[in-house]
Amino acid sequence: MSQKILMQADYLLKWGEDLEIIPQGELVIEGGIISYSGPACERNEEFARVIKGNNKLIMPGFVNTHTHAAMSLFRGYADDMPLKEWLEQRIWPVEAKLTKEDIYWGTLLAICEMIRGGTTCFADMYFYMEEAAKACLESGIRASLSQGLVGLDPVKGIASLEEGKKLVRNWHGEGEGRITTMLGPHAPYTCPPDYLQKVAKTAGALQVPIHIHLAETRGEVEESVKMYGKRPVELMEQIGLLDQKVLAAHCVHLTQEEIQIMARKKTAVAHNPGSNLKLGSGIAPLAELLQNGVLVSLGTDSAASNNNLDMVEEMRLATLLPKGLREDPTLIPAVEALKLVTVNGARALFLEEGIGTLNEGSKADLIMIKLNSSHLHPLHSVPAQLVYAALSSDIELVMVNGTILMEKGDLKTVDEERILFETGKISSRLVS
Ligand code: NI
Repeated sequence: MSQKILMQADYLLKWGEDLEIIPQGELVIEGGIISYSGPACERNEEFARVIKGNNKLIMPGFVNTHTHAAMSLFRGYADDMPLKEWLEQRIWPVEAKLTKEDIYWGTLLAICEMIRGGTTCFADMYFYMEEAAKACLESGIRASLSQGLVGLDPVKGIASLEEGKKLVRNWHGEGEGRITTMLGPHAPYTCPPDYLQKVAKTAGALQVPIHIHLAETRGEVEESVKMYGKRPVELMEQIGLLDQKVLAAHCVHLTQEEIQIMARKKTAVAHNPGSNLKLGSGIAPLAELLQNGVLVSLGTDSAASNNNLDMVEEMRLATLLPKGLREDPTLIPAVEALKLVTVNGARALFLEEGIGTLNEGSKADLIMIKLNSSHLHPLHSVPAQLVYAALSSDIELVMVNGTILMEKGDLKTVDEERILFETGKISSRLVS
């Protein structure tokens, strides 16, 4: 259990109804929970630690709602290829060689990068997820983990669903609640409708959400129409999957009707602009989704398709793309972009209310950003500076659940040198 900490900064950003920017703000953190959040005031009590953030800003940490952490092992291994070829010819063959231990180290590699970039929580879908859970437990990061399920072969499909259930039973709520779980059917094109119905029923019984890839490419939509006479989102509604709590990654190719289905069913979206651009999948209709009341958050997807896990970069892409596409600079203003990477992220993972807000009573998952750099000067607008000018390297301190995971470049809970050494060895073996 963490000690009582006082944190002060030139600006404190938190979410009430809207974004609140408090000049000369401070937080008191006790046992991982924020007990005071507001303007700095006179205090007589003792603190185990006082962190004075002159020329700094405190805001909620980023929530990366879609990644495959251990795929950081494949960063730069296969690029400039279409999704189908990329998966079938390059990624699936090397994935077949992955061991449990590789997943553990690969996940830690991603966690190092995410902590440095201010990500305090992420949603991961992959396999051997108990190893990923161990990596999250040790590193102190918050995560929502799902075993990736493929249902093309009925026998293997049931076995993987059993693995998914085991992850939920063994890990949901571990690490003082930092670790939560979902069921992760990979996609409608790898999980047939009857299998997805089984997954939905299981998710309902276990009371966990579902994390799925949906409507990522034009080819996926065409195949779905050919096989089932329905587009992917329509099909998911028809088979009842969207009656569960669902986090849908990508959602690039949607009709107006599908957007309305998602709004009605309260399906959460993980928008992955960087990965969608790099794989040439297209650009998701972010402005239209938000205008129709769909909950949208941001994800990086894996470092094999992005090729980094940088939420600052992702946030900038998310806001710039709609402006350019629709020739309308008023779309996705800076404050809305900040919402996508913080409070919307926590909601999209169906986490308890309060995560991502920095309000009193909520979890102390936050970042501190250094403001006195030439690229952040002068400071006319805090949100504009963060969204259009800041770099993830401006992040100086990262805290999850009241524990400092990174301070002034030092990772406090993981041995980065060892992780780089181990993952270097593993990646050479995998591609040999
Ligand atoms: Ni993905």
